[in-house]
Amino acid sequence: MYLCVCKAVSERTARRAIREQGVVSLRELTRTHGIGTCCGKCVPAARALLEEELAAS
Ligand code: FES
Repeated sequence: MYLCVCKAVSERTARRAIREQGVVSLRELTRTHGIGTCCGKCVPAARALLEEELAAS
């Protein structure tokens, strides 16, 4: 399932970036994958996913 439709970034890809590539902020997800750089509708979901992953780590 896409987390960011505009940039075609899947939830799995975003989780992998957080778990394996050391991404710890929405800004980094934006910089590395373009999340939230088009319509911005994915930002709340991206923020929630990031918080969930960081809480689990
Ligand atoms: Fe992510 Fe549009 S869905 S910028």
